[in-house]
Amino acid sequence: MKYYFDWKKNIDEDELNIVIEVLKKDGLVLVPTETVYGIAANACSNEACLKIFKAKNRAQDNPLIIHVSDKNMINSIAEKPNEIEEKLINAFMPGPFTLILKKKKIICDVASCNMPTIGVRMPSNKIIHEIISKSNIPIAAPSANISGRPSGTNVNDIIRELSDKLDVIIDGGECKIGIESTVVKVASDGIPEILRPGFITEDDIKNVIGSVKLSDKLFKKVNKDEKVESPGMKYRHYAPSTECVLIKFDQNQIKKVNEILSRNPNSCVLGFSEDLKYININKDKFINMGSKNNLNEISHNLFSSLRKIDTMNVQLAIIEGVKKENFGLSIMNRLVRAASNNVV
Ligand code: TXA
Ligand code: MG
Repeated sequence: MKYYFDWKKNIDEDELNIVIEVLKKDGLVLVPTETVYGIAANACSNEACLKIFKAKNRAQDNPLIIHVSDKNMINSIAEKPNEIEEKLINAFMPGPFTLILKKKKIICDVASCNMPTIGVRMPSNKIIHEIISKSNIPIAAPSANISGRPSGTNVNDIIRELSDKLDVIIDGGECKIGIESTVVKVASDGIPEILRPGFITEDDIKNVIGSVKLSDKLFKKVNKDEKVESPGMKYRHYAPSTECVLIKFDQNQIKKVNEILSRNPNSCVLGFSEDLKYININKDKFINMGSKNNLNEISHNLFSSLRKIDTMNVQLAIIEGVKKENFGLSIMNRLVRAASNNVV
């Protein structure tokens, strides 16, 4: 790392100019967004985007999301959206939402992995917005983590993993939402399909468009050679090194946790604050995700909680799941993958 900028309180104009210079020279910048931190580079430069793939050890066929500051920039990087796509843009941008559109040539082939489409996202976070609008550079930014690991939602977690690969680190505090954007592609029948669930839910999209479908791959293990709409679906994701088991949300959830604990005493539990008193575990082996009645809190804490598992020095992590509906479905999508589909 060459520069560390603390922008938790405000954006420093001189430092902003340095960030823009680094981006113009194909450097990598750690930037906060409202979802998770991103490793940002100039989306028009093959060289810059190659550095992202190297830093993350990312599969060569997994394209990067392109971040813009406004609608004009969408038009400069993607072909004209159809009526349904236009409605989605108006409803959910800026915000935690990524729309797959046909790409224009200005976006480099490394960023799009030679696909004819790109994921376009207009973040609402002020810091990344300022960087894009002042530089006028579309920004390629994947989540800030080594591929396969939980995404980074605060600078401390990320520095340990990536600091030697970054030219600038911008500290914007903790990311508000905590899980990545909802990725949507409008199918040829005009129905939006959710390729990755996020804060913008099935119901939110249905309310705007009238119809929506969920990809049938969201909770499946996908074979590396399988053809999928979104390459990210194929890869191991969010997984701690420690073995994990995810307990479905139901009336017997706490009972199941205790049963597994009695058979596996060297475990930690990733659970809800109100359940601690019913779970037979030492407080220091309990990682609190928040209240089970507050999905926003759980989402906010999710990735840093998953990262804590590997610091616990245990053989097994027992994870309490949430109800698989609305925003809970997006949280479960991450947890099922973190547990490598080991769900009971
Ligand atoms: O919230 C977010 O989206 C964060 C922040 C930094 O903006 N970014 C992020 O990027 O999560 P990443 O690279 O970790 O995930 C991008 C996902 C992958 O699953 C990828 O396969 C999918 O978006 N994707 C990107 N371009 C695509 C395309 N043209 N068609 C289908 N899926 C695409
Ligand atoms: Mg990612």
